[in-house]
Amino acid sequence: MTGWIDAGETKEIPLGTMKGIEAGGARVVLVHGATGIRAFEDRCGHMSAPMSIGQFKSGVIKCALHSAVFDAETGAVRGQPQMHMSGMDKLPPEMVEAFSQMGQVMAKIRCEQLRPYPVAVEGNRVMVFV
Ligand code: FES
Repeated sequence: MTGWIDAGETKEIPLGTMKGIEAGGARVVLVHGATGIRAFEDRCGHMSAPMSIGQFKSGVIKCALHSAVFDAETGAVRGQPQMHMSGMDKLPPEMVEAFSQMGQVMAKIRCEQLRPYPVAVEGNRVMVFV
């Protein structure tokens, strides 16, 4: 389906928050930043994790899976995925080596920008074109 979809009331997405929704059969993440509400496909440009379970802070969205960072206005990549996790120094050497090998593979996966959707606010309704 292609067209404008009612994504809910503006009060459901307060300034400084983000929220995942289903709209017209698409998974969408709504982000309310300093310049208004933006919408992106709810899929990380790295390995497709839902962006809506990540963090939105200081104008960027951070993926929950490997910490890639995206501009909350445009969806542009602002930080590459990371393989390091806290506590890795306490793991057995075999696991550290396995993570290192995964990191080498992951480094070859291109991280694409988030796909933006047009947004319009009509009265108190958020409309997304999907
Ligand atoms: S899936 Fe988002 S950074 Fe890897």
